[in-house]
Amino acid sequence: MTRDITEEIKRLKEEKNAVILAHYYVRPEVQEIADYIGDSFYLSKLAVGLEAQTIVMCGVSFMGESVKILNPEKTVLLPDAAADCAMAHMASVETIEKMRNTWDDLEVVCYINSTAELKRHADVCVTSANAVKIVKALPNKNIFFIPDRNLARFVAEQAPEKHFVFNEGFCPVHEELKLQELQTLKAQHPEAEVLTHPECGEAVCRESDYIGSTSGIIAHAEASSAKEFIICTENGVRFELGKRCPEKKFYFTETEPVCGDMKLITLEKILHVLETGENEVLADPSMVEEAGKPLEEMLRLAK
Ligand code: 13P
Ligand code: SF4
Repeated sequence: MTRDITEEIKRLKEEKNAVILAHYYVRPEVQEIADYIGDSFYLSKLAVGLEAQTIVMCGVSFMGESVKILNPEKTVLLPDAAADCAMAHMASVETIEKMRNTWDDLEVVCYINSTAELKRHADVCVTSANAVKIVKALPNKNIFFIPDRNLARFVAEQAPEKHFVFNEGFCPVHEELKLQELQTLKAQHPEAEVLTHPECGEAVCRESDYIGSTSGIIAHAEASSAKEFIICTENGVRFELGKRCPEKKFYFTETEPVCGDMKLITLEKILHVLETGENEVLADPSMVEEAGKPLEEMLRLAK
């Protein structure tokens, strides 16, 4: 059955001149059939300059929106339009305006895990892979970082020359990662390196040997001489870690971090949108222009 679906997806991809992009958090069988797999930064960079006319974005809706805004002439399809990121909504335009009126010389830095509406009111976007570099490159001292308080804290620690105004958004999947479960794992595997996504809470970050984006975690595990790792991020990364480092061991906390929205993407849904063209991401020209600016600024500053 899976083989039939896979063959059918391949056939339709060719027929429709389509390409499949997938985030590391989606199901292994989806990563397996994707043309490109990566973290948010890689996928947004890659989307610009792809030749295919149709892009199937296997991830949550802000990822599809970003791809569309950066490539307005392309058809962008979401296998499940209901796959959303809770954190993407955890800031408000009113608060952005209030902060702009409160602080002079304020740069509104918007994590790419945000709605297009929030992006359109921001100055620059970042991902977890480039946030430190971009914030440090900004001429402004005052930074309003939305929506994630945890990534904001991590970046603020790396950029002490800046003054941060925090927003109280968070990723429910990463913030839920339990300190006590991590400590138990550390006691069981004292040789293991702890690799953590910056969306995790402060206490978990303090217990970590390395903090970085999804691709940073994978690259670190590959390059490290350690043989065992405790991975503090969504469990979908296990697939790429296993492919790249088959001889190494990876442990996750007892309550494994799972993003239910990322897991909504299935082979059947990919096939369905390729067949029907349903769930196309739409963006009006003003959204493309206004939300495109901070995204393009990110790509420029991250170079
Ligand atoms: P990265 O892809 O930047 O590591 O972000 C993780 C994430 O939560 C994506 O939704
Ligand atoms: Fe959003 Fe967290 Fe899921 Fe990433 S893991 S898509 S930040 S809810």
